[in-house]
Amino acid sequence: MIIVLNFGSQFAHLIARRVRDLGVKAEILPFDAPAEEIAKLNPVGIILSGGPASVLEKKSPRPDKRIFDLGVPVLGICYGHQVMAQMLGGKVVKDEHREFGKEELEILSPRRLFAGLSKKQTVWFSHGDQVKKVPMGLVRTAYTASCSNAAFADVQKNFFGIQFHPEVTHTTNGSKILSNFLFSICKAKKDWKIASVATNIIAQIQDEVGENHVVVGISGGVDSLVAATLIHRAIGNRLHAVFVDTGLLRKGEVEQVASYLKKHGFKQLHVIDASRTFISRLKGVTDPEQKRKIIGHTFIEVFEKTIRNELKRYPIKYLAQGTIYPDRIESASTSKTAAKIKSHHNLTLPEKLGFNILEPIKDLYKDEVRRVGLTLGLPRELLWRHPFPGPGLAVRIVGDVTLERIHILQEADAVFIDQLRKSGEYEKIWQAFAALLPLKVVGVMGDARTYEYVIALRAVDSIDGMSADWHKIPNELLEKVSSAIVGKVRGVNRVLYDITQKPPATIEYE
Ligand code: XMP
Repeated sequence: MIIVLNFGSQFAHLIARRVRDLGVKAEILPFDAPAEEIAKLNPVGIILSGGPASVLEKKSPRPDKRIFDLGVPVLGICYGHQVMAQMLGGKVVKDEHREFGKEELEILSPRRLFAGLSKKQTVWFSHGDQVKKVPMGLVRTAYTASCSNAAFADVQKNFFGIQFHPEVTHTTNGSKILSNFLFSICKAKKDWKIASVATNIIAQIQDEVGENHVVVGISGGVDSLVAATLIHRAIGNRLHAVFVDTGLLRKGEVEQVASYLKKHGFKQLHVIDASRTFISRLKGVTDPEQKRKIIGHTFIEVFEKTIRNELKRYPIKYLAQGTIYPDRIESASTSKTAAKIKSHHNLTLPEKLGFNILEPIKDLYKDEVRRVGLTLGLPRELLWRHPFPGPGLAVRIVGDVTLERIHILQEADAVFIDQLRKSGEYEKIWQAFAALLPLKVVGVMGDARTYEYVIALRAVDSIDGMSADWHKIPNELLEKVSSAIVGKVRGVNRVLYDITQKPPATIEYE
């Protein structure tokens, strides 16, 4: 496997995903992971990610210097390139002509990392410092007009530094560069294949769980669905699936997922309609964090009660969760440098129940979860649904959550999503939904004046939800959606399209 040391870049995950897409397992570790811990994992190569810090600052993050003695190839990217240059004896300075965006790279030595590339390459830069002096014994291998040491190499030790980002698509031959590092330099094997990943996970579950019973919470989303299907394949009806209907899911979602599971042999499926409890506890609550807390606590309470009552006859030893790789990495020390913007409640299921935790998809990225789902025969329509927040529609109804507002929002959202699917736009978008603004505005319908709610449509392009751009939906489609919503959904007389990026906005409304 390849180890990616994370220096706080939002691209660390992207690097790991690109490596996996090339067929090699990649794991992200904190930037200061001790060399022994790394050595234990037996990696064939190490990648130092970029990061927001400057090596010129006193307390800037540094890797354990013994990683350079492990005899393993190292590739430093951006901040990783600079930290490597500095630790190996070179010099980094503040860049007078900061390079951000696309640049033309001139390759001096089109071999090894740059094998198979022509001399001029378009690459993507994003940093304010640059390497002024390459460490003794290392050679510079590429430059740009304003960065004389844009890449360096130690061909004996297989250390490579590049100032630009090969993991982003703006670097035209980024994938070739990563592939050169993996296969010609690290001699990695292409053994990360989704079908075998699924088979291995099923075998691991059987190994770990033995003859015990497992309970899993179905949220309606893709992750818990795939996790449950894997466990069901592994242990059959010793899996008990609890689907808490919070009343805050998308239109028809509870029925769609529940009927799919029933049809596919889930005998122990418990759909618990707790919508009244959720809605009554949310009454009058307008603070977004407060809403999240209430929903999180109520969910746990309902879940526990179900286990204590309905499932008490079964010898349940494991609680399964659909935690995926980014959830785990985001909440661990790897993101020491990242600020907490809002509390997500995905990781907080009951510890006090005393179950062992089973997380079958904890090493997978979202796109891998979907592909595993496909190999298990789950329908594309369920797998390629956009991400949905744990607190559901409550964070898409600004302010007070009422039954009427939930109903209006579900209907408007269904119209929007239906039109996106029909037009083929849905799969081009990372996440799309309708939100309800608690404003009543004036309109006219027929001869009458109306006074109704405003629906905001949001559709964004993103890599991982950390940052996002608004999706450029064709105007005709927007027009169609707007007329369909105002025409079909009672209680709405105005539709807005949200064109803010994240940051400064977030994707959700609360
Ligand atoms: P924001 O709104 O923070 O959202 O830009 C980024 C991504 O996270 C999802 N999201 C959540 N997911 N629990 C979740 O499970 C939450 O409380 C939550 N809040 C936001 C959001 O849908 C987007 O994909």
